[in-house]
Amino acid sequence: MREVFDPAKKPWVNIEGASTDAIIEQVRKCPSGALSYFMNADGEHVTEKDIQSEAASIMNIQIKPNGPILITTDCEITHSDGRKEIKQGTTALCRCGQSANKPYCDGTHRKVGFEAE
Ligand code: FES
Repeated sequence: MREVFDPAKKPWVNIEGASTDAIIEQVRKCPSGALSYFMNADGEHVTEKDIQSEAASIMNIQIKPNGPILITTDCEITHSDGRKEIKQGTTALCRCGQSANKPYCDGTHRKVGFEAE
């Protein structure tokens, strides 16, 4: 998006170079969170980190047909003995009761023909 962000120019940001929605979309793609934007109308300053934090606070849990429960965000598992374990990324919890690695799914649900919606 050179028409908006061009480090070879000063100033290197030209907010007239694209639509507001296109600029916001580009800022949200910034992997480092170094880019941010704010809306003049309400004065609220929103950074990519804010957006990611908001997204991270919404936990997504998926019930897989005939399979495990997927937690698709980082989470902390508290085991029955009180031991806590941080899991990063997606965690699959056994729903069939047959895993040899409970509480996690080890794929046994396929071998035993577990069926559930
Ligand atoms: S759901 Fe996969 S092993 Fe139980």
